[in-house]
Amino acid sequence: MNGGELLSVRDLDVTYRGGKKDIRAVSGVSFSINRSEVFALVGESGCGKSTIAHAVTRLLDEKHTALGGQIVFEGRDLLKLPWREMTSYRGSRIGMIFQNPLDSLNPLWTAGYQIGEAVRCDGISGKDVLRATEELLGEVMIPDPDRRAHSYPHELSGGMRQRVMIAMMIARHPSLLIADEPTTALDVTIQSQILDLIRKLRRTHGTSILLITHDFGIVADMSDRVGVMYAGKLMEVGGVEVIFESPLHPYTQKLMRALPNMPKGERRLEVINGGVPDMSEEIAGCAFKERCGAAFDACAVWDCRMVEMGAGHLVSCAMFGGREPR
Ligand SMILES: Nc1ncnc2c1ncn2[C@@H]1O[C@H](COP(=O)(O)OP(=O)(O)OP(=O)(O)O)[C@@H](O)[C@H]1O
Ligand SMILES: [Mg+2]
Repeated sequence: MNGGELLSVRDLDVTYRGGKKDIRAVSGVSFSINRSEVFALVGESGCGKSTIAHAVTRLLDEKHTALGGQIVFEGRDLLKLPWREMTSYRGSRIGMIFQNPLDSLNPLWTAGYQIGEAVRCDGISGKDVLRATEELLGEVMIPDPDRRAHSYPHELSGGMRQRVMIAMMIARHPSLLIADEPTTALDVTIQSQILDLIRKLRRTHGTSILLITHDFGIVADMSDRVGVMYAGKLMEVGGVEVIFESPLHPYTQKLMRALPNMPKGERRLEVINGGVPDMSEEIAGCAFKERCGAAFDACAVWDCRMVEMGAGHLVSCAMFGGREPR
């Protein structure tokens, strides 16, 4: 690992304001990602993981969204960047792969053309564009690359489209890749090939990765550190071994307890009794207290601060609230 902080999300708040009620999708979230590091965000559906990804890339409808806090990337607060500058960051400095690549690929352009555009952005021109595009198609193991280069996104399978997206990332080698459920829609074999390509991007270009997934097998295989989210808040952050072997937050423990007997590829989040609270209502104290089983009086007034329990191991739980900050 090269070390050095690349991204620092500080006290991020995101409230969706478009509907009848405001939805506080993310509140007070802070974490950082070092260079060449893979940081995974996990948590049940609706916890605000994708909202964080969209905030970092500023792909939120900012007219109907209130944003607070800072997202410092390569030393600059992305939330303060003029729109035009943010657009140039996207793709070149910050790459994105989402669950459905059709959302990101232009349906009107062939795969080869879109990869070619990415290659051009990297300063390659003329005949070299075609050569570089073919090389990239080969690198992401697209069979029959000559033919595939002329295919439109809708003519390609999900795995193939994800490969096209990754080829574009390799062409532009962003310093941060945000991968939001990149393999959820794919079968297991294709999934592992796509993950290999993402690993390769990290290995060859030192790309840092914000990985969002429900699959704990992928978290264990890919990530260095993990952030566990619940109801828009981070509950625990730590190294992958710590989170898997000695989690402290009752929520993380419940998630982990469900895992050991399951085959690796099926280590998906176990549903814990009850549901994620309504994020349009004000939540007093810890959001997990009703489902926790270990809740006590202090949980109702818990201020949701993160307490450092060991080097880089942070927990937001009233049980550890009396502990002095290290
Ligand atoms: N554009 C939007 N407008 C209003 N509410 C939204 C919008 N996008 C997400 N939400 C709400 O914000 C909350 C967080 O959603 P988000 O998509 O960030 O969760 P997630 O953790 O990515 O879930 P999943 O695991 O299902 O992808 C949810 O209550 C969701 O309904
Ligand atoms: Mg999501």
